Amino acid sequence: MTKRVLFVCMGNFCRSPAGEAVMQRFAEEFAADVEVDSAGTHDYHVGEPADPRMLEAAEARGYELTSKGRQIKPGDLDPERFDLVLAMDAQNHALLLELAGESKTHIRLFGDYLDDEWPNDVPDPYYGEEDGFDQVLDMLEEGCPLILQTLMGDDIFNFESEF
Ligand code: 4NP
Repeated sequence: MTKRVLFVCMGNFCRSPAGEAVMQRFAEEFAADVEVDSAGTHDYHVGEPADPRMLEAAEARGYELTSKGRQIKPGDLDPERFDLVLAMDAQNHALLLELAGESKTHIRLFGDYLDDEWPNDVPDPYYGEEDGFDQVLDMLEEGCPLILQTLMGDDIFNFESEF
């Protein structure tokens, strides 16, 4: 059965579009039946492609970020719509929980899937240095396979990769 995952950051401009692309890649690699989407808690970049700095950092690792910015809507937080909603940091996690009303257990902090050597928040690279974009991608490449494993069960790791 198809699993659906939604990545959420503030602007849907840097972190969550990258999350969408990285998870998509791992889902394809493991032939996992997963649909991936992303959204922002704010409307700053609605309709825009991702930040050119993130596009460049992601392209250097072979990812093509194709999504356009959109703002989260309450229906996105219905557990019937997405099996898992992943907030990139605690601030956006709190906003999602506020918006969600009753059903909240499927709304998780991405960093909770990483071990303690990683920060709990995926740092917002928007106002930071250039290497912040690579740090985001490092965290996503670490966490996405673990999240897929949780979603799909261990079987995905018995699949022989075509890459
Ligand atoms: P994101 O980063 O939440 O990872 O997309 C940001 C992008 C834009 C802004 C803030 C954060 N902004 O203020 O426009």
